[in-house]
Amino acid sequence: MKIIMLGAPGAGKGTQAKMIAEKYGIPHISTGDIFRANIKNATELGMEAKKYMDEGKLVPDELTVKILLDRVAQDDCKNGYVLDGFPRTIPQAEVLTAALEKMNDAVDFAIDVNVPDENIVNRMSGRRACLTCGATYHIVHIPPKQEGICDKCGSALVLRDDDKPETVLNRLKVYHDQTQPLIDYYTEKGILKTVDGTKDMQEVFEQIVSILS
Ligand code: AP5
Ligand code: MG
Repeated sequence: MKIIMLGAPGAGKGTQAKMIAEKYGIPHISTGDIFRANIKNATELGMEAKKYMDEGKLVPDELTVKILLDRVAQDDCKNGYVLDGFPRTIPQAEVLTAALEKMNDAVDFAIDVNVPDENIVNRMSGRRACLTCGATYHIVHIPPKQEGICDKCGSALVLRDDDKPETVLNRLKVYHDQTQPLIDYYTEKGILKTVDGTKDMQEVFEQIVSILS
């Protein structure tokens, strides 16, 4: 099963993608997490990506597409995967469609986690992220057991550099300009499913499971 998560920054793509990955035993692939891991390790890719991410802009397609195609070619992706944060532009979607077509394959579901802009800024300022294992929390809605510490790996939790309110507003603008057109793209392919992302995370997950089964 190949699944794409669509939705604004902070809509809950990552939260739901992790739950899907666990339930269906497929890898969760987040281009944002891959970039953040590279920034943490100060790789060349990370330094390049950081320039764009800190301003809330998209990392150029040339860099992003290559990373994604390399990742989905790995062995653990044989039975499918859930993509979180890719594709984010029409050219990225076209590259993915073409790469899968070559193998007589296609994406099965594009799930749009719908959350209005008004809810987003509040969610982002409360998010705390683990840059070691990729887990995310929310100080009010999904708090860690011990404040500031990741439940899963014990690392310190941080406010992401791009979660400052002014950067969040930029990311929302970029989302509406460049990523929202993917909703029409996948609607035309007949695989778009929309879930109400304002519900609590278990309810959102139930909506998704009923689509996938
Ligand atoms: P990326 O890491 O993908 O960030 P994003 O799309 O902006 O989305 P977020 O991770 O911020 O939000 P999310 O939807 O995963 O929400 P989450 O589950 O954490 O990308 C970052 C940057 O990398 C981009 O800006 C770009 O520069 C670059 N990049 C990445 N991919 C790229 C690509 N393909 N092309 C070009 N550039 C790329 O939830 C948010 C918060 O809400 C959390 O605190 C969570 O606990 C809480 N929450 C979740 N669900 C609920 C709920 N139902 N109720 C209440 N709270 C909830
Ligand atoms: Mg995310």
